[in-house]
Amino acid sequence: MKLLFIGDIVGSLGREKLSEWLPKLKDKYKPQVTIANGENAADGRGITEKIYKEILTSGVDLVTMGNHTWDKREIFDFIDAAKKMIRPANYPETANVPGKGIAYIKINQLELAVINLHGRSFMGDYEDPFRVGEALVAEAAKRTNHIFIDFHAEATSEKEAMGWFMDGKVSAVVGTHTHVQTNDSRILPGGTAYQTDVGMTGFYDGILGMKKEPILHKFTTQMPQRFEVPDKGRSRLNACLVDIDDKTGKANKIKPIRIDDDMSLFEL
Ligand SMILES: [Fe+2]
Ligand SMILES: [Fe+2]
Repeated sequence: MKLLFIGDIVGSLGREKLSEWLPKLKDKYKPQVTIANGENAADGRGITEKIYKEILTSGVDLVTMGNHTWDKREIFDFIDAAKKMIRPANYPETANVPGKGIAYIKINQLELAVINLHGRSFMGDYEDPFRVGEALVAEAAKRTNHIFIDFHAEATSEKEAMGWFMDGKVSAVVGTHTHVQTNDSRILPGGTAYQTDVGMTGFYDGILGMKKEPILHKFTTQMPQRFEVPDKGRSRLNACLVDIDDKTGKANKIKPIRIDDDMSLFEL
């Protein structure tokens, strides 16, 4: 099974980049399933129902989320009905948080379980992603040995720890949230594909997909600023392709993909 994962789609530029490039990537790599992180898809903050549907129309099979899940209030109106969206699973069990943190996708005779988890280092007081993740993987393993984790976390150490923690138990652990693609994709000894961060899909000439000026102003003056996501300019798509053995569920290969508007590092 070939799985394509697209990193955090940021704003309208990210969505345009996705709809322009996903068909070309599908032509080239022939993934059976495409997953994308959509936590920043609406102006960098959250997602709306219209945008969720637009991302699916672009060719994505499942949308994962992150710490921006709840930024747009309308999420509460549609997340429970959105069968092709998951949000991080590690909220307190008793809190009755809407949506779900795991989804199953049928791909011919195979089934893929997708799990979304939040990190905690420098992030928030979420439930332990290791404990929650372990329980979800045990649940998924009753149905399938094809299991993919989007670990939405800030600290590289926490992400590497999750990779090793899940090695041999899942097909892949990839990181999202920090928006900059890391050059460390590998197959861990137990057969789990790993990459610390897939990177974002959106504005190229800024900082993490946002306009650089307000962020520079904040760093240089310490004064509060409103961060803006531009809707014009050059853009970038960051993704990774994971090749999973149909029988064992172990990863054969992971390939980072990066498409910049100046094409500096893209090889088709
Ligand atoms: Fe993000
Ligand atoms: Fe995030």
